[in-house]
Amino acid sequence: MAGHLWLVGMMGSGKSCTATVLGERFGLDVIDTDSEISRRTGCSIAQLWGERGEEAFRSMESAAVDRAAAGPPTVISTGGGAVLADGNIAAMRESGSVVWLAAGVEVLAGRVGNGAGRPLLEEGSAASDLERILSQRRDRYASVADLIVVTDDLSVAETADRIEAWWSR
Ligand code: S3P
Repeated sequence: MAGHLWLVGMMGSGKSCTATVLGERFGLDVIDTDSEISRRTGCSIAQLWGERGEEAFRSMESAAVDRAAAGPPTVISTGGGAVLADGNIAAMRESGSVVWLAAGVEVLAGRVGNGAGRPLLEEGSAASDLERILSQRRDRYASVADLIVVTDDLSVAETADRIEAWWSR
């Protein structure tokens, strides 16, 4: 398939690990928008969020999505909230294919542990936060996705297998 391979999904859905595996398999570079923002600013996401607020983080995220979209074909792992901006959705859909790594809240909660480093999870229990956030975003993930992979019972390699089979069809 032509263009980028975008991975979207909630925190804990396995986007970064899956992107790394797919990049190796396809011989493509991998971009992680959160890592790219941290590298450019020299700050962790939690630090940026704390010092500059969510709105500033979201504009940096949109800029990172636009930069990635404008580059050569790449596997791109996005932050869980990247689907909140219509412009990001348009950039993803216009520049390649989008895979939603879906998972149930209990599975996500198990994977994010105590939520350290994830500002949206720092208060209250991860599972109830994730439930609320997922209910706000589910339709957006579904609307942007060309493929949905439910990862609850899948390893990273198995998730990558599903995406590879679809991508290479
Ligand atoms: C966020 C997800 C995080 C990071 C930020 C906000 C979100 O990325 O971008 O903490 O809004 O869901 P991961 O999905 O990689 O954890």
